[in-house]
This record gives sequence, structure tokens and C-alpha cells, in this order.
Amino acid sequence: MKFFVDTAEIPAIAELNALGMVDGVTTNPSLIKKSGRDILEVTKEICDLVDGPVSAEVTATDADTMIAEGRKLLEIAENIAVKVPLTWDGLKACKVLSDDGAMVNVTLCFSANQALLAAKAGATFISPFIGRLDDIHMDGMELIEDIRIIYDNYGFETQILAASIRTANHVLDCARIGADVITAPPSVIKALVSHPLTDKGLETFLADIKSAGIKIL
Ligand code: E4P
Repeated sequence: MKFFVDTAEIPAIAELNALGMVDGVTTNPSLIKKSGRDILEVTKEICDLVDGPVSAEVTATDADTMIAEGRKLLEIAENIAVKVPLTWDGLKACKVLSDDGAMVNVTLCFSANQALLAAKAGATFISPFIGRLDDIHMDGMELIEDIRIIYDNYGFETQILAASIRTANHVLDCARIGADVITAPPSVIKALVSHPLTDKGLETFLADIKSAGIKIL
């Protein structure tokens, strides 16, 4: 399973990238706003930093302007994936840009039928939002399962990019189901290392190292 990091914060991306934990990056207008940076400048910096796909989202709602924005974003770097919303106009833009050979990430997916449409429009990635479904007491993980079954039934190559990941359990469940990619904030990726028994075990080992005077160097 690939790990994308869901942020536009350069230091956080660089830190995880140095550990080999970054297979790509996703951004959205809210993350760009949070960074306080110009979208074109910060996206270029991210593309220079990581080898994998970097999703940058269009701002328009009509297909023609989305396509024009997408083409401008694609000039930034070869690893840009144009992110479009799951609307008819977004799907039109997806079809045109993916027919041109561009990577397209169709975002704001909340149903398996929407995911089916995105695959038929040639999306490289479909982004179902788990956490936002959980927020309204729906089962985000059931959506990932349904999309996996449907894509496998028909051999669609669109990659399931599980988004709106809020917890370590979301990551585990996505891995069990077979999502192709998860995109998560740096804090969630970093939290995957934590286990109380690791902390407790290390504490005991450190006490024994000290009391026995064990030295290697
Ligand atoms: C995905 O591409 C989105 O940027 C993101 O995962 C949304 O997450 P949120 O629901 O926590 O804002």
C-alpha cells in the first residue's frame, strides 16, 4: 500500500520523505490556505521534493475552466496529478485530461456509484473520504470495501486513494481491504509507530542497560 501525505507543509513532507514514507502528496484548497503559500509556488516545491504523484486541485466548477487550470498545473512538473471534484463537470475534465495522458485524481467521492463513474472517465485515482462519512455516522470503510469489489469485478485500473484518514485504525482497515493508497496527515502517519508495549519494553531494557553497564561503543 502506498502512503501519500495529506499536507502542503514542506518541513513535514521533507521529514517523512527522508524516512521513505512518502510515495506521493495530496493537497486541497483548505490545505493550501492553511499553508499560507501561493498554490503554484508551494506545489512546485513539493514536486521538487518528492518523486511520486502530487495532487493539486482545480478551483473552477465548469469543465472548460477546470481543463485550463489543470493544464496550467501540469506545467509545474511531470509528477502533478490534477485533482477535480466528483461532479459531471469534474468528470468531463477528468476524461479530457486523462485522454491527454495526465494523471487525474477525482476527489470528494462519497458513494461507490460515484467511484464507478470516475473509473469510466479514466481517473488515475479515486479519493473516497472516510472520515467525513464517519462524521455523519455513515461507514467510510464500507465504501472502500464496495469500491474494491466493483473495481476488481470489472478490472478497472483506477487506484483507490483512501482519503480523509483520521486514525491509525483507518490505515489498518484500508490495508486489510486492499486500498491502493492512503493519504493521511503527517500526525496520523507518525502515530502508526506508537504502541504502549514498545514504550514499556524499551523502558525495561534501558533500565537493565543502565544497571548492568552494558556498552557497545
Ligand atoms: C484528500 O485528498 C483530502 O485532501 C483530505 O484527505 C481531506 O481530509 P479531511 O476530511 O480530514 O479534511
